[in-house]
Order: sequence, then C-alpha cells, then structure tokens
Amino acid sequence: MPARRPAPLKIPLAAASVLVASLCIAPAAHAAPGNPGTPRYGPGTAGVGDPYFPLAGNGGIDVLHYDLDLDYTPPAAGAPLTGELQGVATIDLVATQDLRSFNLDLRGLTATQVVVGGKAMAFSQDDQELVVSPRPKLKAGAQTEVVVTYGGTTTRPEDIEGALYGWVTTADGAMVVNEPDGASTWFPANDHPTDKASYSFEITVPEGLVAVANGLLQGSETSAGRTTWLWDAPDPMAAYLATATVGDFALSQYTAANGTPIIDALDDDLTADNLATTEASLALTGEMLTFFEERYGPYPFIAYGAIVDDDSVGYALETQTRSFFSRVAREGTVAHELSHQWMGNHVSPERWSDIWLNEGWATYSEWLWSEDRGRATAEESFQEVLAIPADDEFWETVVRDPGPFGIFSGAVYDRGAATLHALRGEIGDDAFFALAKTWVTEFGGGTASTDDFIALSESVSGQQLDAFFDVWLAAPTKPVSW
Ligand code: TRP
Ligand code: ZN
Repeated sequence: MPARRPAPLKIPLAAASVLVASLCIAPAAHAAPGNPGTPRYGPGTAGVGDPYFPLAGNGGIDVLHYDLDLDYTPPAAGAPLTGELQGVATIDLVATQDLRSFNLDLRGLTATQVVVGGKAMAFSQDDQELVVSPRPKLKAGAQTEVVVTYGGTTTRPEDIEGALYGWVTTADGAMVVNEPDGASTWFPANDHPTDKASYSFEITVPEGLVAVANGLLQGSETSAGRTTWLWDAPDPMAAYLATATVGDFALSQYTAANGTPIIDALDDDLTADNLATTEASLALTGEMLTFFEERYGPYPFIAYGAIVDDDSVGYALETQTRSFFSRVAREGTVAHELSHQWMGNHVSPERWSDIWLNEGWATYSEWLWSEDRGRATAEESFQEVLAIPADDEFWETVVRDPGPFGIFSGAVYDRGAATLHALRGEIGDDAFFALAKTWVTEFGGGTASTDDFIALSESVSGQQLDAFFDVWLAAPTKPVSW
C-alpha cells in the first residue's frame, strides 16, 4: 500500500519539464533517443534510498499484499539451532515505474522459482537481493502477482549491532522479530516501512507446535502429523513488524473493554516467576488500551495480544497487533510495546534516522502510564534524564540522526522521551495532547519524518519551535535551561 504522504504538488506538464531541466534531473521515463514516444523500461533500484540501510526495500514497486505459505521444521531435540523452512510467497504488487526488472530483499534462503502473472520468469540472486526480470516488462501502474518459491536452512541471524533478529531458530520453533531490516531472512520483501501492505499467513509446523502471526486467527488444520495455522492481518503493516513465531505456546483469547480481540501466546516453558510476572502485566492490557486511546485516539488495528517466548532475542518488539517479549513481559515494557501500535506501527518512520519518533513516544508512554499508576511522575522521569551529567557521552547522540549503529541507543529512547516532555512544557498540555492525536490521524497508515513532526507541532501550537527542536534533537550537547 502506498505510504500516506501529503499529496505532491500538481505542476502543469510544461512547468514540470522546465523544473526538471533546471534541476538537471532526467525525467523518470523519457523517450529513447531518436524514438520519441517509446518508453524506456529501467531496472528498479536495489534500495529505497534510506542512507542507514541502502539495500533495504526496493525501487519501482509497491506491494499491496503478501500471502506467506510457510512450512517449518524446528531442530530435532538436542540438535544445533537450525531449522528447515520452505516458503511460497504470493505477492500482489504495483509497478510504480516502467520496469524491465525489479528487486525483492531475500537473505540466506534460496529462491527456486519466480512466477509473474502466471508465467515462470528469469531471476537471479545474490547475498541480499532477488532480481526478477518479468516478460512482458511491467508498465508503470500495472498490478501483477509475483509468486516466489524459496527455502533453506534457518539460523540465528544478527543485525548490524549483533542483536538477534529475523527468523531466529529456537529449540522448539523460532522467534521472528525483524526490526529494522530482518524480514528478508524469512520472506522476499520490500523491506522498508515506506511500503506497507496487508498480510495473510498459512504456517505449517509439526503437530503440537503453535505458529503465531499478526492479526486474527482464522483456524488451524491438522493432517498427517502437521498442523497448519491460518492468520489474517488486513491492516497496512511494515515488513519489520511481521511475525510468524513458532513454539510450545498456549493460546488464550478474550475481548478487551474497548472491544479489541486479544490473543496472547505464552510459552509452556516459562519459569514460574516469569509466568507470574507476565500474567500480572498482561492482565493490564485492557486498561492500557483504554489509557492510550484516551491520549492517542482509537486503537488502530483489528486485534492485539502478546507472544512470550522462553528463549530470548535480548529485547521486546512491537510486532504489529502481537507484541513479542523475551522470557518475561514486565509492566513497563507491556505499556511501551502497546503504545508503539500507534507510535511506530500506525505512524511509521519515513527513514530509520526518524527512529526517535518510535522510541521517544514509547518511552514517554511508559512515563505517562507509570504516573497514572501512582509511581514516578513524567516530571520525575524527565528529571532523572536531566540528572545525567553534561559531559556524559549520552548527550553526544544526535537524536534525529543517531546513525545506523545508534538507532537503539539510550539517548534515542530517553532523550527522545525527554524531548516530548519538554515540548509539552513549551506548548502546554492542551496543544501537546491535541498534537499526539493529530499526529496519529494525519500520518496513520503511512510514514512520517522528524520534519513532519516539527511542522505539525508548530501548526498545532501556533508557536515557532525551530530553536527548541534544534536544542533537543540536533545538538550533540545537553540542553541548558531545562
Ligand atoms: N524496538 C524495540 C523496542 O524498543 C527495540 C529493539 C529492536 C532493539 N531491535 C533491537 C533493542 C536491538 C536493542 C537491540 O521495543
Ligand atoms: Zn520501543
């Protein structure tokens, strides 16, 4: 689905070509030399142009829907942590330019067949990219169905900082969490938040195991010792938020006070302590939904719930409609991941440099929840951040551009949240909470940037805030006079 961006300025054709000429940029699909009117079909680029992850996503395509048919066998008891995954991904996409070839992101698994519009096509594959050459070539605006058959051995992939992510093989299944660019370790994807799509899943695993994906459970069928789990996730979703976690899970379902169906999946092998903590925290889900609806507007998706695995990737993730927790779900983290459904999932970062809009809001949401429960107030949490000495390297991170190795740094979370609290002080409670809701209605379903946030803050408050945001988001120093 196209990310919802403000409509581009409509410039009359003549004026547009003057603009193009003066900028010395070739028009996207110009006529071949000496052959006016013949469109030139180019290759789609290997990335969407995100400087932090240059190969993430792909140019020239807009995915509408992924139907992922997966067959997975986890390691045998006591064997090394590798599994066998076979997949058929049926991808409905639209060409956004005339294409002689386009890419999908795919890593560590081998494609064996690619069918476009019902016919087998030529393709090639390197470490990160699957390159498909459709014939006939795709015309801009054409919608087509791409079916990729692929598979291989799953491992425990790591992101550039060395954190586990993607399809992480476990003793009883797999933990599947993809932020920022790990979706390509388990399906051929346009792996960037600027291309959201709906998803459906058919995941076949050995009988006795449960496969948990996003959205609503449609049913399960068992035959010949294998069970197929069917999930439907119709809300637009970035690839990093998809999951197909497999394990010894117990599923439970109920309806929250706001009407949202909740499906939780708790690993049978959690320790007694972790199970007790997890159950107490998840029992607050309904109250938290209501709490964040009051502040950010209606819950944006058809379902919610948690997955708690007995293995660990070292962090929790706000997988869309079904947050993932490693070993235990603690109350603050449950609030954090739930708030991400509005802040991060419904409104997603335009570029990975915009990550503070996810983590700042989710951390601030923890502060707000804590205050509401009679623990530390948001002001006290803010003062704790301000208590970090000015010469601490914490203040060196440029929050609006932390670099690809800094997207999960402490400053992105805590200075990000402090920025929001300081902004609230600057513009007042009424403007601040109006801003939160407007942010979600204005950009929900798509992506937004830091500049979008600054512009909306200024328009909602009627204040000029450039200097404020420079100090909080751009300066590699501790803000003074707060
Ligand atoms: N987005 C996750 C959260 O804050 C955090 C996350 C994803 C993360 N990948 C990570 C944290 C790697 C540390 C390392 O909920
Ligand atoms: Zn977070």
